[in-house]
Amino acid sequence: MSGSPLRGRDLLSIDDLSTEELRLVLDTAASLKRRFYAGERNLNVLSGKVVALIFEKPSTRTRVSMEVAALQLGAIPLTFNRSELQLGRGEPIKDTARVLSRYVDAIAARVYSHKSLEEMAAYADVPVINMLSDLEHPLQALADALTIMEKKGRVKDVKVVYLGDGRNNVAHSLLLVIAKLGGHIVISSPSKLKPKPEIWKLAERAAAETGGVIEHVEDPREAVKGAEVVYTDVWVSMGEEAEAERRKELLRPYQVNAELMKLASPRAIFMHCLPAHRGEEVTEEVIEGHWSVVWDQAENRLHVQKAVLALLLG
Ligand code: CP
Ligand code: NVA
Repeated sequence: MSGSPLRGRDLLSIDDLSTEELRLVLDTAASLKRRFYAGERNLNVLSGKVVALIFEKPSTRTRVSMEVAALQLGAIPLTFNRSELQLGRGEPIKDTARVLSRYVDAIAARVYSHKSLEEMAAYADVPVINMLSDLEHPLQALADALTIMEKKGRVKDVKVVYLGDGRNNVAHSLLLVIAKLGGHIVISSPSKLKPKPEIWKLAERAAAETGGVIEHVEDPREAVKGAEVVYTDVWVSMGEEAEAERRKELLRPYQVNAELMKLASPRAIFMHCLPAHRGEEVTEEVIEGHWSVVWDQAENRLHVQKAVLALLLG
């Protein structure tokens, strides 16, 4: 990773990476995964580096896979809940960013507001990595792209259909990554829950450059026709609990069940970033069925995050 073109960069959005840089991250992840399975788990390429991981919200996959990714590269992860830092008592983000920059080599954060990450990045002297905000979940989307490449051989021209809350972090980053890799992404949601216009515009611009296709299709049955990948996420994201009842009512027709999967391509796979709510956005039959690749998808978080850390810090 020496001489990495991404060295010193922030990763707040999938749009921070060009198509070429995205390919570099995914190729590096695939290579690190092969080395992992060949028994090369301790690489020491980031020996002596320290990464701070800050969580404003709960996490299983992101927290554990980031800690393990850092450790396998020889770096040391330091993990904090917001309340354990003075940040939780009102110390400004800009002060926290400048102080942490004197101690650690990168700051990764899971935050309620994307603006908090932007402020962190503006004041930190070290790379800042988005571990999920209200707007985007780029590390998830990188793992999703790697999973699609593994299962379908490519992303270009593969029809990916995301059903449910089209305005959430996972939908936004998936939309951007597929558009930037020249794939075909359909967001199927009620019109009230379409992707935010600023994200849609970025995806439109990317698709125009790569030959990708982006669509919004309100009818879920229409949307999944011919889909190679059917993807969903929770109906109520962390921080939106007040919306729960209304949201569940609105999104009920978007549940991914066996009947819907049968309208997709016979080779369709089912993806979910997890955690899943069985009986809401997906049925037990689908997530546990032959379509599901969710455990491979979750594993890929580890491999792409090793690539991201190695390329940003290497
Ligand atoms: N998919 C994902 O980010 O999971 P966690 O919330 O468990 O980190
Ligand atoms: N959209 C979900 C993703 C969880 C990984 C949330 O923000 O809660």
